Order: sequence, then structure tokens, then C-alpha cells
Amino acid sequence: MRYVVALTGASGMQYGIRLLEELDGDRELIVSEMGKKVLDQETDLDLEDLEAITEAVYEDDDLFAPPASGTHKFDAMIICPCSQSTMAKIAAGIADTLITRAATVSLKEGRKLILVPRETPLNVIMLENELKLARAGAVILPASPAFYQGPAGMEDMVKFVVGKVLDQLGQEHDLFRRWE
Ligand SMILES: Cc1cc2nc3c(=O)[nH]c(=O)nc-3n(C[C@H](O)[C@H](O)[C@H](O)COP(=O)(O)O)c2cc1C
Repeated sequence: MRYVVALTGASGMQYGIRLLEELDGDRELIVSEMGKKVLDQETDLDLEDLEAITEAVYEDDDLFAPPASGTHKFDAMIICPCSQSTMAKIAAGIADTLITRAATVSLKEGRKLILVPRETPLNVIMLENELKLARAGAVILPASPAFYQGPAGMEDMVKFVVGKVLDQLGQEHDLFRRWE
């Protein structure tokens, strides 16, 4: 399997990093400019650390990179975390960065596109953008950890959200206990 993973400038970098660590298959990473800044704000990691857990890293302004083309095969794209700015651009069909272009490609090629927003509360424009994208075939998977499993701390909450992403991809995992 080959996945395109994008980190944009929303809070929740831990979700994206854990996702990269858990994904089985090739991981092609794109981090937006604001994503790099929020990565620095929220973690002790930088882009070089992420290179160690990915097969390829592309710049967000490199529209010549492979994920920009529908001829470049990948199985799914996950934007985690996904800012509302990136969400709005994709909903409007704007594809002027590698992240938004690869998301547009995912939709037009009928490939899985998973968007993990963190923002709260949501205004009507944000809600309409998410509805529009869900209708276009994207999966809107808010970073909403559950509490019924009694998380012991932040790691369990991150694992829950990442596990829900892996469920969407059909990847087996034991990141959370299933309800029986
Ligand atoms: C510390 C920090 C946290 C942010 N968190 C969010 C967030 O959770 N959701 C969001 O939509 N935007 C958030 N933003 C604003 C985005 O970074 C901003 O809209 C930016 O233009 C997004 O650019 P990008 O989508 O190209 O990464 C945050 C900004 C900062 C500085």
C-alpha cells in the first residue's frame, strides 16, 4: 500500500506523527509551511525526524512532485491534522499547493481521502465545507478522542483517533479495545 500523508497547520501534530508510525506501507509526506511551524510549537520534532519514518518527503510548493498527478498511484491520502483553511481550499476545488492538489487528485480518481480536522467550534462555512467534501466522497474524521474506554492519558487519546483512521483504511491494529 502507498499512502500520501499531509500535516497542515492545525493543532494535533501528535495524531499525524503517530499515524506515520503506525501505517503499514509506503508513506509519502507533505507538511505545509504552517504545519512545520505548528510541529515546532507542539513537539520536539522537526521535519528531519519525520523523514526517518517516511519513504519520501515533498515540499508543499512542489507541484511537480509525484502526488500532484493522477498517474501516480497511491491508495489513500490522509490529511492529519487538517486545518480549516486547507479544508476550505479543497472544498472550493483550489489546488495551488501539493497538499490541495493531491487531495483534488484523490477525489477525481475516486481514491480514499481522509480529513482529520481539530477545529472547534465550527462556523457555518466550515460545516458547509465539511458537508460538501463528505458528499464528494471524502471521510471527515474529527480528532475526537472517546472517553468510554477510560484513557490513561494523552497517548491513549491519540491512539484512539489514529486507530479510527486505520479502521477507515482497513488496517488491523490494537490501538484501542473494541467494544464487546
Ligand atoms: C498554534 C496554532 C494552532 C492552530 N490550530 C489550528 C486548528 O486547530 N485548526 C485550524 O483550522 N487552524 C489552526 N491554526 C491556523 C492555521 O495554521 C492557519 O489557518 C493556516 O493558514 C493553515 O495553513 P495550512 O492549511 O496551509 O497549513 C493554528 C495556528 C497556530 C499558530
